[in-house]
Amino acid sequence: MGLLAPMDLRTLTEPSPIDPYFDRWSKRPDGVGCTLAEYRTLFSLAANLQPRSILEIGPGCGASTMAFLLGSTTLEQLTQVTIHPDGCTEVVEPQFLPRVTTRVMTSDNFFEQLAPDVRFDLVFVDGDHRALSAARDITNALHHLQPAGVIVCHDILPTCLGDIGVIAQDLAGRAGKQYTALVTGGPGLGIIS
Ligand SMILES: C[S@@+](CC[C@H](N)C(=O)[O-])C[C@H]1O[C@@H](n2cnc3c(N)ncnc32)[C@H](O)[C@@H]1O
Repeated sequence: MGLLAPMDLRTLTEPSPIDPYFDRWSKRPDGVGCTLAEYRTLFSLAANLQPRSILEIGPGCGASTMAFLLGSTTLEQLTQVTIHPDGCTEVVEPQFLPRVTTRVMTSDNFFEQLAPDVRFDLVFVDGDHRALSAARDITNALHHLQPAGVIVCHDILPTCLGDIGVIAQDLAGRAGKQYTALVTGGPGLGIIS
């Protein structure tokens, strides 16, 4: 896996391979979780890092999964963790499915049963958005991150559930890592690297 290069902000506004999928997803009656700029960012992060292992907490219908899969040409395994199994690979193209594993459980239970030495190159935190739950997800992700690994948190702007951005920044600082916030008109992405 490569080191995270400085983010080129043109990736937020320039056309990306994820765009045709987003056009399709945006017509879904239930919508999708991220904005186009955010899916472009997830795609670019994966293309930039070329992770071999990804952990995704909260895949929704699989739209963020697809952004990572399209970007990561060297990916060996993407693990989805979700409490709602129905449809979490619904928008994932069939050729990618052999590299996707879905674990149906809470992220707390997932980390409890995970062997201590398992490490991921990239972790996406987009599950239970309550402050304490997000803090646990980020803390657990930090324990299971490769040294050059990256954690991406969605929904970093403050809501009635809490302020995931402040939590992520604080936990990144305590772990001696950098925190970068990217807010582009949507709920925002926080990158711990
Ligand atoms: C906002 S959706 C994710 C959207 C998706 N990441 C995207 O951008 O396309 C939130 C997801 O978190 C899952 N979730 C909620 N609480 C969870 C928990 N405690 N553990 C694991 N997954 C959880 C839900 O089942 C749902 O799939």
